[in-house]
Amino acid sequence: MNRIEAIYSFINLDDKVVDVGCDQAKLSLMLAKRNQHSIACDISINVINKAKENIKSPLVDLRVSNGLENIKTSEADILVLSGMGTYTIIEILKNTNLRFKKIITISNNYHDTLREKLNELNYKVEEELIVKENNKYYNLILFTEGNRKYSEEEILLGLNHKDMGLYNEYLNYLLKKYNDIKKSSKDKNLKIDKMINIINNKIKNIKIN
Ligand SMILES: C[S@@+](CC[C@H](N)C(=O)[O-])C[C@H]1O[C@@H](n2cnc3c(N)ncnc32)[C@H](O)[C@@H]1O
Repeated sequence: MNRIEAIYSFINLDDKVVDVGCDQAKLSLMLAKRNQHSIACDISINVINKAKENIKSPLVDLRVSNGLENIKTSEADILVLSGMGTYTIIEILKNTNLRFKKIITISNNYHDTLREKLNELNYKVEEELIVKENNKYYNLILFTEGNRKYSEEEILLGLNHKDMGLYNEYLNYLLKKYNDIKKSSKDKNLKIDKMINIINNKIKNIKIN
């Protein structure tokens, strides 16, 4: 399963989807194939013009929009934010009054900050899924309305993962990454040591079905 297929797997037929930062609008094309309407928007006019040249389906509503600026209340109840950084995602959510039943993110970075900041905006982690595409790991997070108390481990490594096998593989990749950083640095780094401890603990306690 690639990233777009993974996002698609979290969307129901009656969901009203807006994909912000759609680029080639691959997700909307997949939804259109099963007869589902969606809004695909991007900040770049060039991106949207190019998508309009390639996509003729009336089920794909292509728009130029900085974040959610050109989306009206009740046009969408599911928000997709994929392939952007955590701080862009947070800015987009801070700059809107719209609320969503579900938000599906694949952020490029700082997943701990994403979990924390979205909790402050009253969106909590419902489920997570690690996706491996072209040998790279991506962290999909499904948020729903509400907030919750997270442990430090949950903030740093996520929670409620689907596909524990892939999650275990991802944790081992992270462990190697932090061990390599530790080896290459002469100074003691408490933050790295702490991450290594938390990941090791998680791997020890993980249950793979
Ligand atoms: C790397 S692409 C991701 C495409 C697709 N969502 C994916 O996951 O493969 C990021 C897209 O986000 C768009 N983008 C960046 N900031 C944005 C914003 N504030 N509002 C809307 N689109 C934005 C960029 O123009 C670019 O097309």
